[in-house]
Parts: sequence; structure tokens; C-alpha cells
Amino acid sequence: MEKTFQRIYMDHHATTPLDPRVLETMMPYLTSEFGNASSNTHAFGWRAKEAVELARQQIAKLIGCNPEEIIFTNGATESDNLAIKGVAQQYRRKGNHLITSQIEHSAILESCKTLEKDGFEVTYLPVDQYGMVDPQDVKEAITDQTILISIIYASNEVGTINPLSEIGEISQDHGVLFHSDAVQGIGKVESSVDTLKVDLMSLTAHKMYGPKGIGALHIRSKRPKIRIKPQNHGGGQEANIRSGTLNVPSIVGFGAACEIAQSEMEAEAKHLTNLRNHLHQKISENIDFMHVHGHPEKRLPGNLNISFEFVESLSLLENLSNIALSTGSACSSSSIETSRVLMAMGVEEELARSPIRFGLGRSNTLNQVNFVADQLSKQVTKLRNLSSMYKIVRKGSQQQA
Ligand SMILES: Cc1ncc(COP(=O)(O)O)c(C=O)c1O
Repeated sequence: MEKTFQRIYMDHHATTPLDPRVLETMMPYLTSEFGNASSNTHAFGWRAKEAVELARQQIAKLIGCNPEEIIFTNGATESDNLAIKGVAQQYRRKGNHLITSQIEHSAILESCKTLEKDGFEVTYLPVDQYGMVDPQDVKEAITDQTILISIIYASNEVGTINPLSEIGEISQDHGVLFHSDAVQGIGKVESSVDTLKVDLMSLTAHKMYGPKGIGALHIRSKRPKIRIKPQNHGGGQEANIRSGTLNVPSIVGFGAACEIAQSEMEAEAKHLTNLRNHLHQKISENIDFMHVHGHPEKRLPGNLNISFEFVESLSLLENLSNIALSTGSACSSSSIETSRVLMAMGVEEELARSPIRFGLGRSNTLNQVNFVADQLSKQVTKLRNLSSMYKIVRKGSQQQA
């Protein structure tokens, strides 16, 4: 008989489980209300359209914009591509320079690389030791050719939150558009486009307890009115910006997820911060030679990222197979790769090869945190007992003390 393990999920930066309340709102649109939101000659279509527009309002409310400024996509990768390429192609005659950072998600970096092949120039700004972009660096990088600045809101690896409103102010002063890949921050910390001073913002539902495969791009329609070149051509849905039949059930779920996030954000942030701090404390009580990455305060409530010296992160994760953790971003967690985010932060290579990312979320409890901390200490100790280097260094530090 197959053995059943108690599984603990602590990888909420990779994806989140679908909230049962979200699933409930989606169900009718997966069954009886299956109409195409573009069918305007019958009630099936009207009902689908109504549901889409309600979801658009729920999403817009969470980020403080007008519903018509929300364009549905299939996720943040598509939103990032649409923002970067769509703006660059639209404003090419104005200039050919973009500014981003070294710690962006690959959806941004790869879009920028594609543009470079097409004659655009891109500045990849460095970050400080905490993984934060300095607004002064953004200011100094702007030239008369700069058309777009794109800076990640919260790092998907170390959870550091960038000072978007300061960067947005600089963009406004220089008449440059400002985009943010905000998927890790939305619904968890301040999410208003006006407070953050962004002109375009990428969202995705599956990082906030909504379904996978649905996202959105916010595009400001006033002061300034932004136009972007579509990347999907076809039936002209979504104001001609993103053609394709709308994924009504997922859009409904996305809207419901935003409404729940908005009403529970404050309490959830407090709860997750407490759990995260407790996890950090428990781990540091039992394990020496560890390095916490990311900003001590300006970070996502559920994020903790630690390198344990003398331990290969993949070996550690293999030994903790009933606990879902990761080594960094989900895209690169299947191989031992040096984290380019940690390298950009100036972390030495050995440590940048072995981070463990804890992503706490809605379903985690204090009991789970205690269990994870205990298991982690046991496994780190076990693996270090196999390391002669650890024994030598430990002996040395005990003799010095
Ligand atoms: C910061 C960031 N941007 C973009 C993405 C890609 O989002 P999606 O899976 O919706 O394409 C992710 C997900 O890993 C992410 O963390």
C-alpha cells in the first residue's frame, strides 16, 4: 500500500492553493454558465460578460484603478511581455532605451534581451545588499532616449520590497513610463497603483489563491494615457490589446481572489509576519553558520530566505521531501544554479548556490512552523556531520570563543 505522508506546503511564492471560496465562485462558469463573453446575441454570452466585468471591477478595486484599465492575459509572464514589448514598440520613435534591474523575473529579462536584439538598449541596474534598487540609480540612468522603467515590486526570491513610489515619482518628473511586475506583492502589501505611482502593472491570480493561467496587465488610461502595441492579434478582445476568447471561469476566480485578498490583507500580513518571525527565531536558535538574505523589515510578510553554510540546498530539500520548500525561484529550482538575485546582492558564490526559500501562506499554522524548524535543524545537523570542513570551522570558532 502507498504510504501517506503529512505534507506541508511552504512554497507560496511559486504558487498558492486555490482558495475553496474562489473555486465556489468559479463552479457555475465551469458548468452551466459556459457562454463566450463576446457572444452578444444571447443570454449565455451576456451572463459571461457580466461575470467578467464584475471580476474586472474586483481586481480594479484592489489596485485602485478604473476597471477599463485592466487587460486580461494568461498570467504574469504574458503581462510582462506585453508591457515591455508593447511599450517599446509603441514608443520606439520617442526613444530606444529601457531601464530595469538585475533581479527581475526572467519574463522581464528575456523580454528585454529580445528587444536588445532588435536595436533597443537596456540598463540593468544593480541592487544593494538587501536586494533593493536605489531610486537615485534610476534617476542617473535616465537619458533623453529612455521610454520605460520596469522594476519588480517584491522579489520572488528574497521578498525585498522595492521603493516603487519613489521610483514612480522620478519617472513622472522625467516623463518616462513606469511598469512593475508586482505579482508577489499584490494582495499581500500596499497594492494601489496611485500610491505606488506605476503606469503599468503585471498581476497573476495563482500567487494570490486564484487559479493558474490567468493574469492581467494594468495600463493607465489617464495622465498619461498609455497606448501599447498588441502582441496577440485576432478577434480584438480586451480593447484590441489582447485578442483571444476570455477564460471566464478563471477570470471570475481571479476577481473573487482579489476581493478576499483585499478584505483579509491586513490580518493575513500580521499573521504571516508573526509566523515568519517565529520560524526565523526557531531556526536561528538551533542552527549556526546561517545567513538570512533580503531586507530585515521591507520584505514580504511570508518570506524568509536563508543559506546554511556547509549544506547543499538540494540535498537538504531531498531530506525534507514531505515539506515543500524551494531553493529560489520556481523556474530554476530543479537544478543547482547560483541565484543571480543573490549574486546581484553581493552574496558570495558558495552561499548564493545554497539558499532555501520559505514561502509562508494562508494555510500555514504555528504547529507546522515548529515542525518545519525542528525537521530542518535535524537535517542540517545530519548533513553537516558528513562535512569535514564544517567540523574544522566549528572547532576553530569554539576555540576562539
Ligand atoms: C515576480 C514574478 N513575475 C512573473 C512570474 C510569472 O508568472 P506566471 O506564472 O503567471 O506567468 C512569477 C512567477 O513565478 C513571478 O514570481
